[in-house]
Amino acid sequence: MIIAVANQKGGVGKTTSALNISAALAFMGKSILLVDTDPQAHSTISCVTDPSLHPKSLYDVLVRNEEKVENIIIQSTIPGLDVAISKISMAKLEPTLIGEIDGHYRLKDILAPIRKKYNFIIIDTPPTLGLITLNSLVAADKIIIPIQSSYLSLEGTDDLLETIDKVRRVTNPRLEIIGVLITLHDRRTNISKDAVKRINKVFGKKVFKTFISKSVKLEESPAYKESIFTFAPHSVGAHQYKKLAEEIISRAKN
Ligand SMILES: Nc1ncnc2c1ncn2[C@@H]1O[C@H](COP(=O)(O)OP(=O)(O)OP(=O)(O)O)[C@@H](O)[C@H]1O
Ligand SMILES: [Mg+2]
Repeated sequence: MIIAVANQKGGVGKTTSALNISAALAFMGKSILLVDTDPQAHSTISCVTDPSLHPKSLYDVLVRNEEKVENIIIQSTIPGLDVAISKISMAKLEPTLIGEIDGHYRLKDILAPIRKKYNFIIIDTPPTLGLITLNSLVAADKIIIPIQSSYLSLEGTDDLLETIDKVRRVTNPRLEIIGVLITLHDRRTNISKDAVKRINKVFGKKVFKTFISKSVKLEESPAYKESIFTFAPHSVGAHQYKKLAEEIISRAKN
């Protein structure tokens, strides 16, 4: 199953969630590939020892047919997790692919021959609704939408839902929202409580039961190139991402 983590709003916890969901699933013994499509390469930087040792990235595979995806997949620092790496060169992808007739299908095409090797492929996406995110939605079976529990948290979700609908109509009718994930939650504040109410009103049953709380440990772990499960195994964040992974597995079966 291929799951894209997407929301064009910046800083809502896409990368933190993509990484820790991948780590949680890998920890449960699943074989997992994390695909970093963001030119900011935050997922890559958070789980690859020295990215500069790897000259090629997803960009090279997406623009050139002769480049093999296997060559840009490396073992991450997170046990059991492979990562398809991104670099800042990904920022050139959109201008390069615009006007190409198969511009939206490149990621789907390059994942097709390797998807059987993995139980889950998790795609981290950039904070835009451009061609990179479209490639991710065309390639995916499911989407996770992380939404920060804050004021204005739902701003922009209409555009995202419209894009998902369009992708469904035009190329990928199977695409489904597997869940909406409330992130950066702070249950002490009225703003967070109010945001949860509004998110539940819009998305109802789609909202995962598990919330991800604001946590210093979750913020710190990428700097040590660790997931929350080795960095702070007994933290609230570790507990929540484990619960979330269980919910994802159970929803994936339905
Ligand atoms: N639950 C959390 N508790 C505390 N800090 C968090 C949490 N989740 C994410 N952060 C921090 O918030 C910032 C944004 O998170 P993250 O990078 O995961 O968001 P993003 O949606 O991927 O951002 P972008 O849109 O730039 O790709 C990061 O500094 C991250 O460490
Ligand atoms: Mg990110």
